[in-house]
Amino acid sequence: MIIEEHKSLKDYNTFGIDVNARYFISVTSISQLREVLNSDVHKTHLLLGGGSNILFTKDVDALVIHMDIKGIKEEVLDDNHVLLHINAGENWHNLVRYCVDKNYGGIENLSLIPGNAGTAPIQNIGAYGVEIKDVLVGCTVMDIATGELKELTAKECEFGYRDSIFKNKAKGKYIIVSIELKLTRKEHHIRTDYGAIQNELESANCFTPTIRDVSDAVIRIRQSKLPNPKELGNGGSFFKNPVISAKEFDVFHNAHPNAPYYKVGEKEYKIPAGWLIDNAGLKGYRKGDAGVHKKQALVLVNYNAASGKDIIQLAYYIQEKVADKYGITIVPEINIL
Ligand code: EPU
Repeated sequence: MIIEEHKSLKDYNTFGIDVNARYFISVTSISQLREVLNSDVHKTHLLLGGGSNILFTKDVDALVIHMDIKGIKEEVLDDNHVLLHINAGENWHNLVRYCVDKNYGGIENLSLIPGNAGTAPIQNIGAYGVEIKDVLVGCTVMDIATGELKELTAKECEFGYRDSIFKNKAKGKYIIVSIELKLTRKEHHIRTDYGAIQNELESANCFTPTIRDVSDAVIRIRQSKLPNPKELGNGGSFFKNPVISAKEFDVFHNAHPNAPYYKVGEKEYKIPAGWLIDNAGLKGYRKGDAGVHKKQALVLVNYNAASGKDIIQLAYYIQEKVADKYGITIVPEINIL
């Protein structure tokens, strides 16, 4: 077991923020993970997957455990379904392309989302009309207190929009060690209802798309407006899209009749935070090395040497401007540490 000290986390978070971990270890097996949890190196642990949804604002005085357990197992369920058991350290996008290559349908709309399989359920990753909860049947977690493994069903994960039990009552209780996805082998449910995909496929003259066509279209759309973390540090959407009541929506809609919105349930409306920020004149805004992305206002970027504090200051500024202009509060979907 090699535990490093004062290790830079710059390469372990997609924002590229340079903070140090007091102790750091990459674990590649369940037994190693158990051993680390049993050790008394430090009383606090921080679990790190792909580092794509975290903003470090200071050095981490803890034992950082980088989950790097790899491996995918397949179980054919019937003529039309396969169950994949995916270990937490598998890169999410590589998994999507593995499925596309094998013609396993269900996660093609989630192409190019940064991060790892094991952290995907925490915020119930979603894009272009699909969320991981639509295909996830369960996950295996390790109870941090006892080291025991436990199976959680999808229902027990209590998924919501960018939300799950792992962000709420089970926060700090479990480590997800693997996830189970039920995917289709033949009768794929091709989801192109999200406007951008339809347009992208039509402009490529693709009218009967395969899952590969959908994945390729999503990749093209994302590449056209979302920055590649390898080139420009970022954590994807920084804020959640706010959900407001029908009463608040009436006021908002009267003042901004052209703003996009989605009705959720009977009495609530979701407003794209990207539009709110953009329409407040902040798209492309930059302060030092912290900025609002030029092509998608929901994404904050690190142009080079921004600190986590620089990014968070920018986020506060944006929240204030949005609240002043629309009376709507937007909250980060990124974990701030
Ligand atoms: N918009 C603007 N200006 C902007 C950004 C967006 O006017 O700068 C408008 C768009 O024109 C569109 C609407 O806002 O009418 C929605 O934009 P988009 O379709 O790009 O989606 P989003 O709501 O900004 C959400 C997810 C993304 C996901 C896309 C596609 C959240 C917080 N974000 O973004 O997820 O890729 O939908 O499904 O729900 C992520 O979580 O990291 C992420 C990228």
